Amino acid sequence: MAPRTEQEFKKHVQAGGQVETNDWMPDEYRAKLIKFIEMHGNSELMGVLPEREWILRAPTLQRKLALTAKVQDEVGHAQLIYRVVEDLGKPREQSLEDLIAGKSKFHNVFHYPTKTWGDVGVIAWLVDAAAIISQKALLKCSYAPYARIMKKICWEESFHILHGRDVVLALVTGTEEQRELVQEALDRWWAPLMMFHGNPIPAEDDPMVEWRIKSQANEDARQQFLDGYVPQIWELGLTEPDPELRKDEQTGVWHYTEPDYTELKHVVTGHGPRTAERLELRRISREETAWVRDVVLADAA
Ligand SMILES: [Fe+2]
Ligand SMILES: [Fe+2]
Repeated sequence: MAPRTEQEFKKHVQAGGQVETNDWMPDEYRAKLIKFIEMHGNSELMGVLPEREWILRAPTLQRKLALTAKVQDEVGHAQLIYRVVEDLGKPREQSLEDLIAGKSKFHNVFHYPTKTWGDVGVIAWLVDAAAIISQKALLKCSYAPYARIMKKICWEESFHILHGRDVVLALVTGTEEQRELVQEALDRWWAPLMMFHGNPIPAEDDPMVEWRIKSQANEDARQQFLDGYVPQIWELGLTEPDPELRKDEQTGVWHYTEPDYTELKHVVTGHGPRTAERLELRRISREETAWVRDVVLADAA
């Protein structure tokens, strides 16, 4: 029988049960879903801005095509995700208004500048790698429509990682200056990457895990990232700017310098080095395209 009380509902999702849009759900669950999924949508949308800056400066036609395709994929992810939020009761227009007004958040990594072509490789390779770890875990999300779209998103993200790795490989096997572009970008991106999965809150204290919106603890995600990618970074002869980073072979646990979680909080609450500028760009483009929406919606009416 379908759950009718909060207690039954919790039991249902904790046992691996899934929920569809029209199923009954507690208000708290709906509110948490909206907040979590909306932040994901915002991140996909804002995440295109740092990379978009490099489309016109891509070194070859092939790179330009690949980067353009990646940017289009990310906007497509935002579109899918905002639709899921809309079905939960928050219209897409409202999500976009709240984003521009600074009322909702987006992921820390998209608040930082992209200074060189090396950033394009490091972002597509490692930021997308960090993201896919969280997104793969969401395939088991208790809210079924969100879990379903994650399949398409993960497939595309894994392709982005290949694209990023290819950009990085070309640079590290090129001239000394090109290799330095990647190393310098990695040095700058390391701290934001280490903060990406959030502070190491235990799974049992994480309300998102309690409702099985998330099924992975932050620290588990970070460990998985380190395990998968640090050996690859080393293989390319690159280094991370953390002298403490090492894997304990006995326990399999990576040790690292504790990221500055005060910075993380500061950045995601709208005070990152590029936050204001990127939100302003979003606001202007929304204003400039308002007539298109007016015309299309007038036609549909
Ligand atoms: Fe994406
Ligand atoms: Fe991606």
